[in-house]
Amino acid sequence: MSKISMTVNGKPASGEAEGRTLLVEFLRGELGLTGTHVGCDTSQCGACVVHVNGEAVKACTMFAGEADGAEVTTIEGMANPDGSLNAIQQAFQDHHGLQCGFCTPGMVMSAAALLKDNPKPSEAEVRDYLEGNICRCTGYHNIVKAIMAASGQDVTAIAAE
Ligand code: FES
Ligand code: FES
Repeated sequence: MSKISMTVNGKPASGEAEGRTLLVEFLRGELGLTGTHVGCDTSQCGACVVHVNGEAVKACTMFAGEADGAEVTTIEGMANPDGSLNAIQQAFQDHHGLQCGFCTPGMVMSAAALLKDNPKPSEAEVRDYLEGNICRCTGYHNIVKAIMAASGQDVTAIAAE
């Protein structure tokens, strides 16, 4: 075991990890940040997406040790400073972009990364970007709509589902 330290959601955080400990295990087990979900552990579902040094990363594809010293943001760090939902989270609520919610943390983290690089994505671009995020409930339609709404685009012409 070795000590791993990182900045998580703007605050210093540290804990013990083995060399084989995945970042997602460290975040959930050692730091108690269980908003980051594990849907597959094999890099397919996207439920574990976090940001590492500003880039979206599937936290099951990275060892905790590789994030030593990094700036990490998880879903717990996405709300506004006053605790209210941020624009993406609010849009998911407003446009029914979730049902069971299991995929939602990863969807929100992926959406934030997309909008940082592409502030007004087309519907096709959103769908393309979400290729690595699986949702078993919603059929994706309202997730795509929510992300486009969060980017400030008028989504009234996109049919409700
Ligand atoms: S748990 Fe990481 S991609 Fe599914
Ligand atoms: S809302 Fe249930 S898996 Fe996406």
